Amino acid sequence: MPLNNITAMNKILVTGGTGFIGSHTVVELQQKGYEVVIVDDLSNSSIEVLDNITKITGIKPAFEQFDLSDAAKTADFFARNKGIDGIIHFAAFKAVGESMVKPLEYYKNNLGSLLNILEGMKENGVKNLVFSSSCTVYGQPEVLPVTESAPIQQAWSPYGNTKQMCEEILRFATMTLPVKAIALRYFNPIGAHDSALIGELPLGVPGNLVPFITQTAIGIRACLSVFGDDYNTPDGSAVRDYIHVVDLAKAHVIAVERMLGEKGKSNLEIFNLGTGTGSSVLEVIKSFEKVSGEKLNYKIVPRRAGDVEQTWADTQYANDELGWKAERGLDDMMLSAWKWEKALASKKK
Ligand code: UD1
Repeated sequence: MPLNNITAMNKILVTGGTGFIGSHTVVELQQKGYEVVIVDDLSNSSIEVLDNITKITGIKPAFEQFDLSDAAKTADFFARNKGIDGIIHFAAFKAVGESMVKPLEYYKNNLGSLLNILEGMKENGVKNLVFSSSCTVYGQPEVLPVTESAPIQQAWSPYGNTKQMCEEILRFATMTLPVKAIALRYFNPIGAHDSALIGELPLGVPGNLVPFITQTAIGIRACLSVFGDDYNTPDGSAVRDYIHVVDLAKAHVIAVERMLGEKGKSNLEIFNLGTGTGSSVLEVIKSFEKVSGEKLNYKIVPRRAGDVEQTWADTQYANDELGWKAERGLDDMMLSAWKWEKALASKKK
């Protein structure tokens, strides 16, 4: 049932909308009748994503290419784009390892873009912001599954620290400005759209597990390194809560609707987005081999610095409050990731 102040053509700004999670969210928004404007500097994505979104939905989203950490350009964008009803802010640097080498770039980009967006919201009367946060804010939780009220631990990387700091900025901004926010703490988003037209497009050597698996299976990489088999977990490899990117994208639409419908319980709400189930690296590999029929070349190597041993979400609060639940299981996620990798390979031929 549509809520009073939600209209079919509410305009949503999606920053980072050509990226992995952003592009899937744009598709879900458009399919629900929202008008989407994307801002992305294409520093970690490709312009072709726009055409592929259009192939899926039949609607080409409006697009502007610039860096949101540029205050003047961001102010100019807001001055020219009136009538934005809500913002989903994905645009950020996200590579943990890189953030250890380039910490200042991470703070400048991730904090700067949020501040400029909040300034634009304040100046132009845009009230609603959905922010991409991460389970990384919990570090290694003491109690699993981890709830939203678990303590925030000292960050293990500048990347993780920027997510914590952005949440803190939102805490005070939503207390003092006419702005509301929902911070969504993602666990490990993987998989791709069923059309195999959009998915994860890592530049260079993937840092994340699933693109490394699919690139190894397709022959781009020789061998996957499994980082550690001596963790205190059932099979010794590290455990994460992998969530299908389309499930995640749908949660963003629900978060936007919650804000537009003024259903929030406070000016800043925080939700875990995961499945509630942990899977080990070795289980992910087994699932991949099962659904793809491929034998994966992998070897066990020492642990990766900065990795936590295990984490998975308590999703009760998100399930109850958002009326949202992740629907797709690990095999489904791995099959969609594999279809996407194969589609990429056939395009290159
Ligand atoms: C981390 C953060 C996550 C953040 C993401 C950004 C935590 C718990 N998670 O994800 O919030 O959004 O970085 O990139 O802090 N692995 C291998 N071989 C590989 C690659 C990965 O064995 O080649 C293993 C890792 O050791 C880890 C698992 O696979 O156990 C998942 O790794 P990855 O996909 O990089 O994500 P996280 O590090 O969990």
